[in-house]
Amino acid sequence: MHTTAHSASVTVNGQPCVLPAAPAASATLLHVLRNDLALNGPKYGCGLGQCGACTVLVDGVAARACVIPAQGVAGREVTTLEGLPARCGNHHGLHPVQQAFIDAQAAQCGYCLNGMVMMAVALLERNPDPDEAAIRRELSANLCRCGTHVEIIRAVQRAAVLMREAGA
Ligand code: FES
Ligand code: FES
Repeated sequence: MHTTAHSASVTVNGQPCVLPAAPAASATLLHVLRNDLALNGPKYGCGLGQCGACTVLVDGVAARACVIPAQGVAGREVTTLEGLPARCGNHHGLHPVQQAFIDAQAAQCGYCLNGMVMMAVALLERNPDPDEAAIRRELSANLCRCGTHVEIIRAVQRAAVLMREAGA
């Protein structure tokens, strides 16, 4: 992958992308994903790294895109909500975690769901059979202003079952 002093490349949802060159070098990863790549799955909530609405995976680890400089992911692999189906080999459908959130009717306004789903994917890729305490721990720093935490925990439990069934 080609990298110069002014630009750097990153893989986003399996596709090579060139990060914006200076003077946009100070842009956050969230800004680049939403404004330059039209990937609007990650949401702008607090912009301070405190709510989790902007969560993406960087090399498979959940990260808050609103506080990561875009240049900081040069050479890394970023996955957004849009890239989840392909991540489990289901290019034209939903990732099991997305399906589980629908099945559990875990959304009210839905603003937090990107973060909840991405955190759940990161957890279940590490631990395919988490107990409720592990799920609560994983999601404890992701805020839901609608108070759907109980449904969200049920969704992650169902997602674990679906992922195991799918071998994802
Ligand atoms: Fe990134 Fe709130 S928008 S943590
Ligand atoms: Fe509204 Fe969680 S469903 S913020």
